Amino acid sequence: MNIRIPRGTQDILPGTSEQWQYIESVIHDICRRYNYSEIRTPIFEQTELFQRGVGDTTDIVQKEMYTFEDRGGRSLTLRPEGTAAVVRSYVENKLYGHVSQPQKLYYVGPMFRYERPQSGRMRQFVQFGVEAIGSADPTLDAEVIALAMDFYKELGLTGIKLVLNSLGDQESRSSHRQALIQHFQPRIDEFCEDCQSRLERNPLRILDCKKDQDHPLMETAPSILEYLNESSQSYFESVKECLNQMGIDYEVDPGLVRGLDYYNNTAFEIMIEGKGFGSITTLMGGGRYNGLVEEMGGPESPGIGFALSIERLIMALETQNIDLPVVQNLDCYVVALGKEPANKAAAIVTELRRAGVSADKDYTFKKMKGQFKVADRFGASYTAILGDNELEKGVINVKEMSSGEQQEVSLEQFVSYIKHKLEVESE
Ligand code: HAM
Repeated sequence: MNIRIPRGTQDILPGTSEQWQYIESVIHDICRRYNYSEIRTPIFEQTELFQRGVGDTTDIVQKEMYTFEDRGGRSLTLRPEGTAAVVRSYVENKLYGHVSQPQKLYYVGPMFRYERPQSGRMRQFVQFGVEAIGSADPTLDAEVIALAMDFYKELGLTGIKLVLNSLGDQESRSSHRQALIQHFQPRIDEFCEDCQSRLERNPLRILDCKKDQDHPLMETAPSILEYLNESSQSYFESVKECLNQMGIDYEVDPGLVRGLDYYNNTAFEIMIEGKGFGSITTLMGGGRYNGLVEEMGGPESPGIGFALSIERLIMALETQNIDLPVVQNLDCYVVALGKEPANKAAAIVTELRRAGVSADKDYTFKKMKGQFKVADRFGASYTAILGDNELEKGVINVKEMSSGEQQEVSLEQFVSYIKHKLEVESE
């Protein structure tokens, strides 16, 4: 039997998992500063949530969902994204009734899409996303964008670009929709089957088609920006003005339509240019989704958010040779020689750990040289040697690895000695 990891998934092994933990700590910290609170929703939801929320003409719903029937005959789906579930939870838990609106929420967790796996495109990937629900204030759009930009910058990424568009409100969208239908209709038979079926149902999706992206009609397609009504136009201007004041550069791209159906008004992506990425690649995407809460049965509560995957972030960090500060050295390794000292060492490391010191010992009956090798591999700051002689005298031999200095310390004072040394070191 040769069981392998499923296609499009990955193991995150020691050595890399520290990077993930570090990134997660930056997420929690930046969200705390922006005053967003964590929300955790289930990994699977009723299939209908995504059909209704994400939209049943999208690639995600049509081709990419992991949908299954449970033993009770219910159709469930592994979440392909976070927004629909957060909105469901906002409605179900009546978060709209809280005094503090908007509810500013964030999440970090695995999402699942049955896509063709390639670099930066996984079947299971982890999204960090934020959703601010309950306000249609353009400064909130700018805030959400600023959070994402600051996040990448704090991790040291350079060469990132914010691309911005407005998809307009309902009225603007429906006049744009008519224009799109008129534009594509005469030559729709030159397009793929998907696009043909999109023409009437959701012509905006045609602009997002990968198969037909080089068709000449794509370039001449009517731009949404020409169809924005006054209020959509002025909303877009306010968002841009606010970004200007925050010192955030952007590029307006009327071709940015996003792959999910719930968007209106502000839509944005953060792209990166780089060798490892081939051409420009999207690191993050988001936008406003006024109307989605109502669609899920809640009261009028406009929302905006974004999501990015940690996998693509790590790829970007790697292509820019950015090392995260994750070196985690062991404080103390206890080398024990002989049966009695080995038993005592177990109690000593436990005592160290209880005192807040990271400590380890040998579990494979290695000789002294072998134990020192391991201590070295863990980057131990101190090694403490305990043999029969030391045990008899009630002492332990502490070696500071950086200087090679050795010091005999009484077993009674050993833990406080190490603690003190570490404290002095970190001052
Ligand atoms: P999305 O554009 O589908 O939007 O995905 C957002 C981000 O998730 C992408 O920019 C990318 O970083 C990452 N991503 C998507 N698919 C994959 C994949 N197969 N492998 C690795 N990374 C991937 C959403 O999901 C929306 N829910 C974003 C949002 C939140 N809009 C409003 N609020």
